[in-house]
Amino acid sequence: MENYLSDRVKNLKSESAFEVLNQAQRLEAQGMDIIHLEIGQPDFETPEHISQSACDAIKSGITQYSPSQGELQLRQEIANHVKKYKNVDTNPEEIVVVPGGKPVMFYAMLALINPGDEVLYPNPGFPIYESLINFTGGKAVPVPVLQENKFKYKAEQIESLITDKTKLLIINSPGNPTGGVMEEEDIRAIAEVLKRHPNVFVLSDEIYDRLCHGTAKPFSIASVPEMKDRTIVLDGFSKPYSMTGWRIGYGIMNKEIAKAMTVLMVNSNSCVAAFTQQAALEALRGPQDIVNTMNMAYKERLEYVVSELNKIDGITCLMPQGSFYAFPSVKALCEDDKVFQKRLLEEGGVAVLPGSSFGIYGKGHVRISAATSMEVLKEAVKRISSFAQKLNEENIENEYSPLIKEAM
Ligand SMILES: Cc1ncc(COP(=O)(O)O)c(C=O)c1O
Repeated sequence: MENYLSDRVKNLKSESAFEVLNQAQRLEAQGMDIIHLEIGQPDFETPEHISQSACDAIKSGITQYSPSQGELQLRQEIANHVKKYKNVDTNPEEIVVVPGGKPVMFYAMLALINPGDEVLYPNPGFPIYESLINFTGGKAVPVPVLQENKFKYKAEQIESLITDKTKLLIINSPGNPTGGVMEEEDIRAIAEVLKRHPNVFVLSDEIYDRLCHGTAKPFSIASVPEMKDRTIVLDGFSKPYSMTGWRIGYGIMNKEIAKAMTVLMVNSNSCVAAFTQQAALEALRGPQDIVNTMNMAYKERLEYVVSELNKIDGITCLMPQGSFYAFPSVKALCEDDKVFQKRLLEEGGVAVLPGSSFGIYGKGHVRISAATSMEVLKEAVKRISSFAQKLNEENIENEYSPLIKEAM
């Protein structure tokens, strides 16, 4: 039997984080010491009071099916939360609770994209965007997110890419892998452009919006009244409460899309585990210190990593405004970021992700996750620095060796 998988499924791509993790684990099995900077999840434990509430829920029998759209009490609390943190007016009917932030992407695209529809997405960006656009038969139209523009883009860029086939614009701020934050004026200008294009919807991925530690402040396009009904906000518990393995997130959208997303839930997951929803309720209602603790730690670590990387000949790195990623350019050391990543892993013992795995405009960069201790980061920077020195020496040798050969 061969070639029996559907064309649809063949269009799906994986995430390079999992591939690099596999490569790193193979080397570790051979006895090599590897520093993991490829991981995209907080290195903090889920706060005790959140875990305890899930245990209590299980013990009190909250272990059955629950409503596919999500528990009403949780959706009400989410509505209060997004009013406070995103300034978005919403209500439980416009909220769907799903297993993580990712399913919001999946369901939003299944609900909105017909074959041939164009979707504008940030590039470099979360690889699942492009994968899902292709999966749903849409046409992926990249919006370049470049270091020279501080990893932001302008409304004019968006306008120049809109055609009569454009159905969806994906915004991700703070962005993965760049850590760039789109500020209020940029988002408002995009909203102005979209007012002239009433058929374009927005998927606003705000999963990192509470992890803003720079001067730029996050701003949700859904808080612009005219955009509210055309925007699906994606958010969840994975990043702000260090709950990646719990699998719970939510989307905010108009009632019609919420109904479609609920039907997609009925057809796939049925519901998010009821006790997980209790934990999520506790996360929103309980103390919020974890968010501040993580932000302070990420800021301190990123400031250290960025300043050390900028001391290395051949590397330039912007200070990220949000998330826990840095996205340095290593172009001057090695043209091919995939070669750089592979060699840094095999020769330097540091696992990072190649920028081009986030899209063509990520070429020449690597993504470094600061979701690890300062001690580990210090060792990582040392290793990156000696690896860079080796590359610089090789580059000098390659440049001069033809001349030397000629002279001989
Ligand atoms: C930009 C972005 N959106 C969404 C997600 C998915 O989050 P979750 O783990 O809650 O599905 C991630 C995870 O890394 C992400 O980086």
